[in-house]
This record gives sequence, structure tokens and C-alpha cells, in this order.
Amino acid sequence: MGCKKKISICIEIQNLVKKFKDVKAVNGISLNIKEGELFGLLGPNGAGKTTLIRMLTTTLTPSSGDAKINKFSIKTQKNEIVKLIGVCPQDNVFYNELTAEENVIFVAQMHGIPLQESKERTNAMLQKLGIAGKKRWAKKFSGGMKKRLNLVMSLIHEPKILFLDEPTAGLDPQARRIVWDFIRELKGKGNTILLLTHDMLEADALSDHIAIIDNGEIIANGTPAELKDEHGGENVLEISFYKEADVAIMKNQLKELSFVQNWKEFGERTLLIPFKGGMKNYLKILQKMSEKIIDVENMKFRQNSLEDVFLNLTGRRLRD
Ligand SMILES: Nc1ncnc2c1ncn2[C@@H]1O[C@H](COP(=O)(O)OP(=O)(O)O)[C@@H](O)[C@H]1O
Ligand SMILES: [Mg+2]
Repeated sequence: MGCKKKISICIEIQNLVKKFKDVKAVNGISLNIKEGELFGLLGPNGAGKTTLIRMLTTTLTPSSGDAKINKFSIKTQKNEIVKLIGVCPQDNVFYNELTAEENVIFVAQMHGIPLQESKERTNAMLQKLGIAGKKRWAKKFSGGMKKRLNLVMSLIHEPKILFLDEPTAGLDPQARRIVWDFIRELKGKGNTILLLTHDMLEADALSDHIAIIDNGEIIANGTPAELKDEHGGENVLEISFYKEADVAIMKNQLKELSFVQNWKEFGERTLLIPFKGGMKNYLKILQKMSEKIIDVENMKFRQNSLEDVFLNLTGRRLRD
């Protein structure tokens, strides 16, 4: 049983606050997540993502505020909520001295799924995530395999509302692809998914809707395209110079280009230049630079991304 048909809001968060002594880990968050939506919550480490998800999944009591999952309050209707949801926690939880299969079947049994069906589901899901047929104890798994095992364990009862806390952290690119495809498949089945991540590519690739969280607060909220239109520059050119003096020279050159509004310095020798307009303007910047500067150490050009959205909103980078 998932969200009822006529209700379009599946998760309604109302001014949630969680304080740990003097740390406001979650500082008044309100959000609506629609049924069937993949909602990405993107933010750096320490932003408050895990604290928020722990309150929503009823393992942590809020300091104030409330949230409704399918109209059930996280404060007063925990039992109802637990039946609806699947939670893949940030830190892996499993029995070290059971195999992957034994771990998953154990959880399936806890959910009251008949043994034969438990076995079938377990095998199918382990297969899909590329960790089937492993006879060794789970504690001998690689970090990436443990993470995928946890994902299977959290979803074996086929919940309709999913909470995934950094499901691809520490995975190699190939395993990450597998998990992304799996999450897309879950979404295709009409599940409502709250995905927590500090990976902007992941948020961008998977989410219908994204909220950016920083210091326990939501600082932006929209579709990936809306966020980039509203808060991003169009393009960004990042240049690292060999000589510190070239930074000042370059800044002077940039003043002559009307389409460059601002720039940011990182360290002593790196300039980050957001600019509007297409490749034509990119070439103009290079031309201006080459009038005065002979060589640079490194140059990166990228089109507008969620990284820039975060940078423009906070003055910091997501990965710092
Ligand atoms: N149990 C706790 N006791 C004290 N502080 C905590 C606790 N859990 C989290 N915090 C603090 O709350 C803030 C948010 O942490 P967290 O929710 O884990 O962020 P994220 O998941 O976005 O990395 C951090 O400053 C963290 O140190
Ligand atoms: Mg976390």
C-alpha cells in the first residue's frame, strides 16, 4: 500500500527542526514531495540530510515541527509509517557472518514474506545489482558490494515509499551505473523516492525535483533545469595559471568583456569565470587572455551545472 490515489502529496514536511545541544542540524525545513516523484535532496557533508531522513523514517524524534508520510504523522503514527517505507541507511547494517542471500532472506522473513517467494525475490534482486551467488560472509564484501547488499535488504519487501541515504557513496563508476539503473527502474514502477546525495551528477541524473540543503536549511528548490536557469551561470571557465601575477593580468583583461560579470578566485592561481552566452564568448575570453598571457597550467570548461548553482548560492563548492 502506498500513497492513496487521490492524494498527490506523499511526504509533507512541516517546519522540522532537530537540535543536538547547540547544533541545529535541521533548522526549520518544509517540503512537499509528490507521489511517484523522485525527489533529490542535495547538499554537502554535514548539511543535515541524514538527520532529516532519520526523523522522517521515525528513528529520531524532532525537536519541533512535524511531517506526514501518506498523511500519517511521524510523531504519533510511527507504526503505520514503518509499514509503508523502505529505508536504505547511510551506514550499512547487516549480519557480518551471514552471506548476502542469508541476510536478505532473513529480512524478507521478518516482513512475513513466504520462504519460497523470499528466495525468488532475493535472487532476482541480488542478480540485478550484480552481487548474486556470492557464498562468502557479508563482512568479506568490498565496500561497494556491502552498499548494494544494504539496498537490496531495504527494498526486499517492495515498499512504495523509499528513502535512500547516499546509495552510491564509495561505489566505483560501474557499480554506480548499476544502482542508478536500479533506482530508475524503481521510479518507473511508480514509487515515491527521496534520494539523499552530495553528488550533484547523481542528483541531476535521477531527480524530477531537487532541493538543495545547506546548514540545515533548504536554500533552493526546483527541477534541475529550473535551478540551473535561476541560479546557475550559463557556462564556467576555470583557469589555473603558472604565475600568480597572471591572475591579476587576467582579471584586468576580463574587465573589458561586458558579458563577464564576476569571477571567483580559488587559492592563489585559479580563476573561476562564469559567463553568459555560448561558445562565441568562450573564444572571446581565450582571445583576451592570449593578448597578455603566454601559457596556463590548466583550463577546464564546463556548461552550467548544479555545482555552479551551489557555488552561486553559498560561495562554496559542494565538495569542499
Ligand atoms: N547524534 C548527533 N549528535 C550530535 N550532532 C549530530 C548528531 N547527528 C548529526 N549531528 C550533526 O548534525 C549536523 C548534520 O549532520 P548529518 O545530518 O549527518 O548531515 P549529512 O547527512 O548531510 O552529512 C552535523 O553538524 C553533525 O555533526
Ligand atoms: Mg549523511
